[in-house]
Amino acid sequence: MIEVKNIQKKFADKVVIEEVSARMEAGRCNLIIGASGSGKTVLMKCMVGLLNPDQGSIFYHGNNFTTMDTEAKTLIRKEIGMLFQGSALFDSLTVEENIMFPLNMFTKDTTGEKIKRVNEVLDRVNLSGVNKKYPAELSGGMKKRVALARAVVLNPKYLFCDEPNSGLDPQTSLVIDKLIRELTVEYQITTVVNTHDMNSVMEIGDYILYMYQGKKEWEGTRKEIIFSKNQRLNDFIFASEFLRDAKDMRMLEETGKIPNERDMDQMTRP
Ligand SMILES: Nc1ncnc2c1ncn2[C@@H]1O[C@H](COP(=O)(O)OP(=O)(O)OP(=O)(O)O)[C@@H](O)[C@H]1O
Ligand SMILES: [Mg+2]
Repeated sequence: MIEVKNIQKKFADKVVIEEVSARMEAGRCNLIIGASGSGKTVLMKCMVGLLNPDQGSIFYHGNNFTTMDTEAKTLIRKEIGMLFQGSALFDSLTVEENIMFPLNMFTKDTTGEKIKRVNEVLDRVNLSGVNKKYPAELSGGMKKRVALARAVVLNPKYLFCDEPNSGLDPQTSLVIDKLIRELTVEYQITTVVNTHDMNSVMEIGDYILYMYQGKKEWEGTRKEIIFSKNQRLNDFIFASEFLRDAKDMRMLEETGKIPNERDMDQMTRP
């Protein structure tokens, strides 16, 4: 479980994250959503310690990460897996070498043990046998899966994914989302995902934090999104008229009121 308490981050005089608090549980996909520039990546970087917040604290299982010494921080970092925006695989290394990288850094395992673990995680992301390929030989979706395999190779307690679906088609995105969700539930990982992908929100959003210009504008579950009256959230999620109509339909279904012909006509009218 990760708790974010009153985080603030400024660059020069510009406040980019303002008084954000959130509670992200283990075994759940915790999503940070919001428009481009709303502060998702900066917030995630503060959470993993790549940026220092100006104010506030991050707690990992009740331990204050922000104030702990370097040694204790390193122990937490070992438990963090990260999937960066754009995969960030090393182009000059093979898939196997890429996935082995964290094992080389953080373990004293023998080569045999490391290869066994690489094969396990490759199998987990349905990519057995691609060990000797280079990133340039893989499709975008395969690269993301390799990056996900690398992010989970050390059996992380915490998994951070920054835009895991960017640049992927909707079906491949769904494969990635499902994998993230399965791993999260199977290993009870506290998973944090930054996304603007609305399919992901509806597919895996156990907890959703909606950021608007650096502030927490709304939080809730994917079901609560359907019923939310927050105008900014609705404008963001249901950006098109078609989706707004779909939301109205869903609300009617959920509340048990079957739309009559007049309702239907009003909803589908251009
Ligand atoms: N290192 C930096 N120095 C100065 N400003 C920065 C820095 N990193 C981010 N910012 C600013 O912080 C704000 C939030 O950026 P951030 O990258 O968190 O947005 P985001 O929500 O992740 O957007 P996107 O969806 O495009 O990835 C932006 O205005 C950005 O210009
Ligand atoms: Mg970002």
